[in-house]
Amino acid sequence: MSAPALRISHLRCEYLVAPLGIDERAPRLSWTIASDRRGARQEAYRVRVASAAEKLAQDEGDLWDSGRVESNQTTHVVYEGRPLQSRDMCHWCVEVWDEAGLTARSAPSVWTMGLLEKTDWSAFWITADPKIIERDPEAITPTLTEPGTPALFRKEFAVPGPVKRATLYASARGLFRLRLRGRRVGEDVFTPEWTDYDKRIHYRTYDVTGLVGRGRNVIAAMLGDGWWSGYVGWQETRARYGSLENSLLVQLEVELVDGERLTLGTDGTWTCNTGPILSSDFMMGEIYDARRERAGWDRTDFAGKDWLPVREAASPAVPLVAQRSEPVRVVETILPVSPNEVRPGVFIYDLGQNISGWVRLRFSTMPAGTRVQLRHGERLNPDGTLYTENLRRAKATDVYICKGGGEEVWEPRFTFHGFQYIELTGLPSAPGRNVVTGCVVRSATSLAGHFECSHAGVNRLWLNGLWSQRGNFLTVPTDCPQRDERLGWMGDAQVFLRTASYNMDVAAFFTKWMIDVEDAQTADGIFPDVAPRLREGKNFIGLDGLGGAAGWADAGIIVPWTLWRVYGDRRIIERHWKAMTAWLDWIERHNPDGLRTRELGNNYGDWLCIPSDTTFRTHSPMKNLLATAYWAGDAMKMARMARELGREAEAKRFQAMFGKVRAAFQKEFLREDGRLTVETQTAYLLALAFNLVPENVRDRVAEHLVENIKALDWHLSTGFIGISHLNPQLTFAGHADIAYRLLLRDDYPSWLYPVMHGATTIWERWNGWTEKEGFFNPQMNSFNHYSLGSVGEWLFRHVAGIELDPEVSGFQRFVLRPFIGPGLDFVRASYHTLHGEIRSDWKRAGRQLTWTVHVPTNTTAHVFVPSDPETGVTEGGVPIEKVDGLRVAGRDGRFLLCEAPAGTYTFASSWQD
Ligand code: BGC
Repeated sequence: MSAPALRISHLRCEYLVAPLGIDERAPRLSWTIASDRRGARQEAYRVRVASAAEKLAQDEGDLWDSGRVESNQTTHVVYEGRPLQSRDMCHWCVEVWDEAGLTARSAPSVWTMGLLEKTDWSAFWITADPKIIERDPEAITPTLTEPGTPALFRKEFAVPGPVKRATLYASARGLFRLRLRGRRVGEDVFTPEWTDYDKRIHYRTYDVTGLVGRGRNVIAAMLGDGWWSGYVGWQETRARYGSLENSLLVQLEVELVDGERLTLGTDGTWTCNTGPILSSDFMMGEIYDARRERAGWDRTDFAGKDWLPVREAASPAVPLVAQRSEPVRVVETILPVSPNEVRPGVFIYDLGQNISGWVRLRFSTMPAGTRVQLRHGERLNPDGTLYTENLRRAKATDVYICKGGGEEVWEPRFTFHGFQYIELTGLPSAPGRNVVTGCVVRSATSLAGHFECSHAGVNRLWLNGLWSQRGNFLTVPTDCPQRDERLGWMGDAQVFLRTASYNMDVAAFFTKWMIDVEDAQTADGIFPDVAPRLREGKNFIGLDGLGGAAGWADAGIIVPWTLWRVYGDRRIIERHWKAMTAWLDWIERHNPDGLRTRELGNNYGDWLCIPSDTTFRTHSPMKNLLATAYWAGDAMKMARMARELGREAEAKRFQAMFGKVRAAFQKEFLREDGRLTVETQTAYLLALAFNLVPENVRDRVAEHLVENIKALDWHLSTGFIGISHLNPQLTFAGHADIAYRLLLRDDYPSWLYPVMHGATTIWERWNGWTEKEGFFNPQMNSFNHYSLGSVGEWLFRHVAGIELDPEVSGFQRFVLRPFIGPGLDFVRASYHTLHGEIRSDWKRAGRQLTWTVHVPTNTTAHVFVPSDPETGVTEGGVPIEKVDGLRVAGRDGRFLLCEAPAGTYTFASSWQD
């Protein structure tokens, strides 16, 4: 059967597939259309939203029927139907007409509304009675510092008739795992996810219709520490949000077939007890004694006589909100090869990949009481033993005590580690096969891009960036997953964001995180350096004071800007407009002369550049340059966003601010000959990237950048801030060949140096490990930090050539412009946008260049075909000028420019490096 001529797929609500329990009252809908016909586009659409699947099936849009709308819009279509209420089921589909008169209808999708009002919650917050521990002192193990002891909770209830629909809403101060009649509720882990608990707390919604039944039921919960009360950041500080007491909120709503409704919520009638988890903490690890499992606790017919009533806990003063991003899950598993016994009884496993997550253990028979210990590390010592010094005070140790008597399968519930190697000890004999499985845990964002080329090292480099993203995008974008830190560092996030958006669909993930960022802004407008913000622990000064640093706090502008540019999302800039304005007001108030020299305390400069630029508490001319450049960059972005929102007066104001800061920058830092007064690669890169030098000296500025690189024998020397601009700016300035040269270097310092030495993720520093010096000082030496991997952006934008249109946001119109450079013979790249998949594959044989591209249906591309001037270009074997639909628009140096409507095209041209 041939594929239908017009197909609709990827129905999304607020970027998510069929989300449950949202609290967005005007959700935005998106879909993708595909046709095999060149030039196909959407002429009109009609969205129907119905309160029941049957109604939708009969074409009844009782919640909303948009009617036929003449438009090519397929993204961010705002729901404009009946006001949405708590618990509403919204079944929807879209019907589309294309320009050839064909029509298609999507399969139905759904979203549901969560609990929108405070009064929707009838459940009470509960906490375990501390007596459960007093009478069971063995519930706490002395091996970890002040461990958290996850408690168990349960409640039996009866359902009088057959169930039509059952929905469960749950939240916690801490982390919950829920079970209904012995079965797990959902696959999410680490719920609810991290927010500033002083500002808002997430709840999650689950459809549990299949888990609740007529008759007796039981709901059971396990409650752990997580971000609420466990260790977060460094300095061994727990209870960042002021309390060590975990508490739980569960509300189960059951609708019976006969229409009756019953609601069961946490309250004083629930009971609690200690359980098998003796301690659990993100940094420290988990200790689980399987002999202490309370068999049957999550089922009916469980005696439970010694369980104590729970206590009610105070309700939080802050709102409960629905989570608007993909949940954290185990997304894949990895089986290691056989272990090495490095000392008697000490077995080291290598997963072959540095990951974030945990180990699943499986034993067939083990004597009861066997204490199996797992330690986790990213690297090995020269003698093959586990290297853990760089974890600082994160113990990253899990212990499983066997119950004996048959197969045992276990994985921890409330901890995760960053590791490639596992040390297994405590077994009475050598481990059998499949004892250890690595579980990869992360926010379950879907893959968007793929990059592959003729150079194995570059392929691994791209993959290392992707793996560092997998390892660090865990509810918020963190710096690293292994040591006692794991914070939402803003600088790291902003330099990597464009790369991240090519690798995965991160729209919902960053939409959520921007709320954390705004929650952390001070009353007078200062954005933080880390988000979510942390409270100051008693013995610790610092984290809460971190704010306003150049390149870090500026993520408060750069993230909404990038989400708007990449996803065409205007709402994100509208929603954060005030916050962004407040930040620029603050900078302006404190730096009236246009030079941003008055920072709050920290200025990290071009963090981890070579040689390093003093410490983060001191200042230097380079740091002033960097801060001023970022200010100008912010102002320019604000001016453009203001225009997008129709805020003309503000557009003028920010344009003027840009002009003033640019002038101050030139006066302070630019010499007449195009040299900067501070001569680092990053100084030149920022001057170019943020348009800070007059047009007629740009070329000279770029020449000085090239001289700098040459003086280092063609090596890079930037830190976090400069690195994302390095190859793009070289390319824009006409030096793509040098960008390729830097890319393909494999001696220190270079991107490929770690790759050559076995890296499977991006390292925090260029010199994390060198042949000469071995491991760098373990005080700050992570092997899974994505910032220096931001070259991924250049691979997609300039090597594959899949680039945003300079004027139009969101890839409905985009640019295809690969810069072919020495050292690569082919590139194959794809990128799944909200409008469908863009592809760019080029390969060359001698001077013959063949380039196949795909322009998704309902989009158009400005195509720059690399081709030597005076030589012909064909498409599908036909001279390009004669190809129907393609409009040749002229030449731009070594590119022939044409306009391409949707379709797949194969260009052939002549090219020589
Ligand atoms: C983190 C970073 C962060 C930096 C701020 C480090 O401890 O790991 O990646 O950006 O501090 O300077």
